[in-house]
Amino acid sequence: MSRAAHGGRGPAIRLAGLRKVYTTRGRPPVVAVDGLDLTVERGEIFGLLGPNGAGKTTTVEICEGLLDATEGVVEVLGMDWGGDAEQIRARIGVSLQDTRLFEKQTVAELCALFAGLYEPSRSVEELIALVQLEEKADTRYAHLSGGQRQRLAVATALAGRPELLFLDEPTTGLDPQSRRSLWDVIRAYRDEDGGTVVLTTHYMEEAAQLCDRVMVVDHGRSIALGSPAELIAGLGAAHVVEARAPGLAARVDGGVLEGIEGILERHANGDRLHLSVTAPHVVLPGILRAFERAGVELEALTTRHTSLEDVFVHLTGRQLRDGGES
Ligand SMILES: Nc1ncnc2c1ncn2[C@@H]1O[C@H](COP(=O)(O)OP(=O)(O)OP(=O)(O)O)[C@@H](O)[C@H]1O
Ligand SMILES: [Mg+2]
Repeated sequence: MSRAAHGGRGPAIRLAGLRKVYTTRGRPPVVAVDGLDLTVERGEIFGLLGPNGAGKTTTVEICEGLLDATEGVVEVLGMDWGGDAEQIRARIGVSLQDTRLFEKQTVAELCALFAGLYEPSRSVEELIALVQLEEKADTRYAHLSGGQRQRLAVATALAGRPELLFLDEPTTGLDPQSRRSLWDVIRAYRDEDGGTVVLTTHYMEEAAQLCDRVMVVDHGRSIALGSPAELIAGLGAAHVVEARAPGLAARVDGGVLEGIEGILERHANGDRLHLSVTAPHVVLPGILRAFERAGVELEALTTRHTSLEDVFVHLTGRQLRDGGES
């Protein structure tokens, strides 16, 4: 039976009023986390989303016991780092944003090293198979590609059959196929071992596919919390229409689209126009007629479903894009 089934009481994580201020002599203090409240239930795959510097790594590293909070409550598996550090450490798995392992050791040796730290633990063969590194079992760490190193980091985090797994940007830099296979590893860990996952990501597509709930963080604060579907539904617009034409933003600001019903929100910038709409088939004819009347020569027109990316843009007025699956 998996260890997860024997977990203690309480949610996987409870944060209340969490604050972290970094102070460096001679520099102004940096408020990295600014009053976060969060409960992650057991069995969830939970995602922290946000731009560079939002405070994601700081938050997970506090949960992992690697950093002290400046203020606030931090409970992990119903326990407290102050009094139960050893217990917590034995029951969590951690994959850092930038893991560096011993360069000269092979994949198999490193898996054995981590498995040896835990009782019970997974076998070396099982760990290697989990992240599909069989062909590299005897390859030294120094000779692995970036994506292979990342997969190995996830394998080592799973060595002790943890109840709670922290993954800080586990798939950044992975090719789409490796990314998908890591999603399968994460889902299997939750579905078969009953584990809980807290991960950070920049990939909205990943969050939408993988996470039961997400928190969008910006400047150390939560700006949205819910399932991806709830957050998208909260925008009230199911579809996005995107158009491109020379100088389109100026034409739109000049009133080209006035009087067309069903456009909930619009962003125009340079040659690009972005419209949030409830029903594209209802608004599109009017939009096309208006463009034609105004002599706008469209270079492209596409429609798609609203995504988590749109939620982020709506909340912050900025793009998160920092890479993606495209
Ligand atoms: N050791 C440190 N000393 C001072 N400031 C720090 C330190 N570590 C992080 N910061 C600052 O705290 C803020 C949050 O950083 P953090 O690494 O938590 O962000 P993040 O959301 O993980 O970003 P990324 O997506 O780039 O990984 C940033 O402004 C960063 O510059
Ligand atoms: Mg980070």
